[in-house]
Amino acid sequence: MKKKVAVIGAGNVGAMAASRIVDADLADVALIDIVPGLAKGKALDISDARPIVGSKANIFGSESFDALRDSDIVVVTAGLARKPGMSRDDLLKKNTQIIKDISCHIKKQCPSSIVIIVTNPLDAMAYLTMKTTGFEPGRVIGMAGVLDSARFANIASENIKDAERDDIFMMGSHGDTMVPINRAKSLSDDIFKETSDRARKRGAEIVGHLKTGSAYFAPSAAVFYMVKSILKNEEKTVCASAYLSGEYGEKDIYIGVPLTLGSRGVKNIIKIELTDQEKQSFKESARDIRESIKKIQ
Ligand code: NAI
Ligand code: 2OP
Repeated sequence: MKKKVAVIGAGNVGAMAASRIVDADLADVALIDIVPGLAKGKALDISDARPIVGSKANIFGSESFDALRDSDIVVVTAGLARKPGMSRDDLLKKNTQIIKDISCHIKKQCPSSIVIIVTNPLDAMAYLTMKTTGFEPGRVIGMAGVLDSARFANIASENIKDAERDDIFMMGSHGDTMVPINRAKSLSDDIFKETSDRARKRGAEIVGHLKTGSAYFAPSAAVFYMVKSILKNEEKTVCASAYLSGEYGEKDIYIGVPLTLGSRGVKNIIKIELTDQEKQSFKESARDIRESIKKIQ
């Protein structure tokens, strides 16, 4: 039997993630949105592509959280997206209530699932989901590091050929204090600074162009990558927002760190040696996330 992935929020990121999962024949998908007809319409459209792309995966849309039942993975993209000039933290209040309600549905309908949070502000929403569901922390993971690291590597590739992708990544918050890490010998300090600054601002740059929404092609690709690593137990090393219990000197917080992702969620949090500068930046990032967490408590 195929595994089941529920995607909550049939907006830009949710629908695109659902489409990627179905197109790849990775799992059956339940697409859920509170807007009447939205998930049903998009699910029908996605399912019509199956004969073209050669997929046998099923997808259905619903307005009811009963559709969560028996899901192996739940991807949460429900909430408001950033508008021009709006910070991720502006979303905090509105999305807090949405995430609390959704967490209660997840706990009731699929208590053994693994949850990938996408909704912003990412790290605080992942923390809230873990606390509200009561799931063990390894089963609630925030998607941001895969995206931010991809942006960083992509921008770096404009300057250096053969950018060593695995050696360039983003830790810390999915926010203004994200922490760029460079272990690639080919990336000079100057280019590192320029490219990491651009990567940090990439989300806002895209919002500035789109005006009516935020990025979703790369975010949905990042979700797909994480879902696949879990369902196929690939144990990929990714950066993602995870619960720390002392690692990197932080406790009781969700923040972006390198980890391996397998069939039970987070398998290992990977401890890398940070420079003094990186340690300092990571601490500042954690401080920012704690500010957000304080506001939702
Ligand atoms: P969108 O506005 O296109 O879609 C959001 C959907 O959520 C809408 O269809 C809306 O009806 C639905 N929704 C709202 N409340 C709901 C509820 N209680 N139950 C079910 N559905 C509900 O937004 P988009 O672009 O898909 O972004 C979704 C979220 O993901 C935003 O918070 C955005 O900031 C965040 N995001 C995070 C990224 C990351 O790297 N972590 C990257 C991109 C987006
Ligand atoms: C991004 O970084 C909006 O968080 C989203 O594109």
